[in-house]
Amino acid sequence: MAKQTIVVFGATGKQGGSVVQSLLKDPKTAEKFHVKAVTRDVNKDSAKALASLGAEVVSADLDKPETLAPVIKGAYGVFLVTNFLEKLNAAPEIVQGKAAADVCKAEGVQHLVWSSLLNITELTKGKLSNVHHFDSKAEVEQYIRDLGIPATFFLAGYFMSNLPGMSIRDFGGGNWGLGLPTPADAPIPLFDAEHDTGKFVKGIFLNRDKLLGERVYGATDYYTPAQIIDEFKQVYPKVADRTAYNELPGDMYKGFLAGAGLPESFQTEMLENHQLFSVAGYFGGADLKGSHAIVEEPLTTWKQYIQDHPAFAEAK
Ligand SMILES: NC(=O)c1ccc[n+]([C@@H]2O[C@H](COP(=O)([O-])OP(=O)(O)OC[C@H]3O[C@@H](n4cnc5c(N)ncnc54)[C@H](OP(=O)(O)O)[C@@H]3O)[C@@H](O)[C@H]2O)c1
Repeated sequence: MAKQTIVVFGATGKQGGSVVQSLLKDPKTAEKFHVKAVTRDVNKDSAKALASLGAEVVSADLDKPETLAPVIKGAYGVFLVTNFLEKLNAAPEIVQGKAAADVCKAEGVQHLVWSSLLNITELTKGKLSNVHHFDSKAEVEQYIRDLGIPATFFLAGYFMSNLPGMSIRDFGGGNWGLGLPTPADAPIPLFDAEHDTGKFVKGIFLNRDKLLGERVYGATDYYTPAQIIDEFKQVYPKVADRTAYNELPGDMYKGFLAGAGLPESFQTEMLENHQLFSVAGYFGGADLKGSHAIVEEPLTTWKQYIQDHPAFAEAK
């Protein structure tokens, strides 16, 4: 039987890269699916690495809608992710997502997996109205639903990669810690995007009929900041007695981001993003059990993720 083609956007990045790896490294899916990996630059090393895995590397640009139909044409499935961080602006992300959705509709794609997030303005009844990169993805989700495209919505948890070096580090004099504008007992759905996105998305493609119209929540588990730092101490006992969690006042947290050259609008957005954990829940309080049920391989735990992490070399 001819293979079904799955087009993977963001293939040189964390989420899409993990999807390509999962689909091609599992003989079951490698046999069933032909994978087209999308990048704007087919000549870069990360694109060539995808080709060596067996992907067909193709060029398209989400900012140039005319480039999308040639890569999506004839596809059975599409994994679609947009990158808010490249422009730090939600508006172009909405334009990109809708343009790709239009092409999926026109080309009769049978299973679109959109990397979505919840609408936080609605979830919090306007209390947190600046988490634009969530609201933008939710707007595209609604657009896909309205178009009637057969789709499943994959919601990525809080990336583990956000923490080492930025939020967890030596704050001076060998005093390690985690500083976030978040209560110590707030639940954070931690997710290893680079290694685990594909485990969920492969499960979605293999369980299409059950999951059309559904949301799948991508996270290993909910961890509190207290637990995150406690497990850090267990993995790095040498610095344990000089390691603590510090709940940061909002202004201080924004000051750190300002010091890194980030604009005020993004400082506010990230502050509200971290307040979300205790205000309404990153996934609105959703349980992860149903999402874990479609995953075949073990998910990366926080302890596994930080073991031997280069950002913690000095803590060894
Ligand atoms: N950090 C978190 O905790 C978190 C949590 C949930 C969701 N997210 C979301 O995750 C998204 C980023 O995903 P990621 O981390 O997997 O990305 P990433 O590792 O930063 O890589 C970005 C990918 O997007 C592709 N891309 C960017 N602009 C493109 C364009 N105009 N046309 C085609 N491809 C384009 C890049 O491809 P080329 O450069 O090769 O063209 C690259 O593969 C963001 O939207 C963010 O909001 C983040």
